[in-house]
Formats: sequence, C-alpha cells, structure tokens
Amino acid sequence: MTYKKIIMVSLLLTAAAIHADSEGIYKYRSGVMKAVGGQMASLGASLKGQVFTENLTLHARAMADLADIVPHIFPQGSGTKKSEALPAVWEKPEEFKNRVDDFVSAAKQLEKIVESGDMKAIGGGVQKLGKTCKGCHDDFREEHSN
Ligand code: HEC
Repeated sequence: MTYKKIIMVSLLLTAAAIHADSEGIYKYRSGVMKAVGGQMASLGASLKGQVFTENLTLHARAMADLADIVPHIFPQGSGTKKSEALPAVWEKPEEFKNRVDDFVSAAKQLEKIVESGDMKAIGGGVQKLGKTCKGCHDDFREEHSN
C-alpha cells in the first residue's frame, strides 16, 4: 500500500468509528428514554386506575435511578439521522442542562415522597415530573404525536 492509500484507509476507518459511536450512543439513549417513558406510563396508570399501587415505590425508585443516567447520554455530536434530538441540545447546552436538572430533581423528589409514605402527595409529584418531560421535549425534541 502506498503512503497515500494508508492515510485514506485510516481516515475512512476513523470516520466509520465516529459514525459507529454516535449510532451506538443513540441506541443506548433511545433505550434509556424508552425506559423513562415506560416508568412514567406505569406510574400514571397505577395512580389513575388505582392498580398495583403497592409498586409505586419501585417505579419511583426506578425513575430516580434513570435520572442518574440521563445527564450523561447526550454527549456533543451524538445526533444521528434517526435521533429525534434537536440541534438545540448541543447549541444551547446550558439551557438543556437546566431542563435535565429540573427532571433529575423532580425524580428525586418523587422518590422522597414515596419513601416518606405520603401517598396523598404522589399524584402531585408525578404531575410535577411530567411537566419536566414536556418542558424539555417542547424545545429539544422533534415534534411528536405523544
Ligand atoms: C432534558 C431533556 C429531556 C427530559 C427532561 C426528558 N426527555 Fe424524553 N427525550 C428527550 C430527547 C432530546 C429525546 C430524543 C432522543 C433521541 O431521539 O436521540 C427524548 C426521547 C424520549 C422518548 C423516545 C425514546 C425513543 O427513542 O423512542 C421517550 C418515550 C421520552 N423521551 C420520554 C420522556 C419522559 C416520560 C420524560 C419525563 C419523565 C422525559 N422523556 C424527559 C429529552 C428529554
């Protein structure tokens, strides 16, 4: 192989590695966000239908655990074709971080509520948490039907 060819090949490999990284990050992020959505759906259904209320603490804890992951899953340059994250995520990092912080503190707050056993406050805690989802999606996620 000529020197030029070697450089060409290594450039292509580097490009593929970068591509693979953001694809992998996106897939991981999508899984985490689906889990967040799943916990939220179960919390809402449990409260609304008064079903499986004995599991509310577990769901709130799971959400609080996911909240520890969310701040790390939007690294710079991890937008992909499939991703619904708007460029604003990386163009307005401070604003985005504020929305992440709102979500994390609402999730931790909900965990505290269920652990204190104050079942009357749970509805309000879940509602507050729900506002932080919408608060971020409105500005940082592509228009979506749900
Ligand atoms: C700080 C911003 C932010 C917060 C807070 C947030 N999200 Fe998201 N969410 C996003 C972004 C951005 C995406 C798109 C990610 C992508 O496609 O790369 C997303 C994607 C999702 C998805 C789709 C996942 C997939 O790939 O199918 C679901 C479901 C979801 N969020 C639910 C929630 C729920 C429920 C909450 C609140 C409990 C929440 N999100 C809080 C920013 C946020």
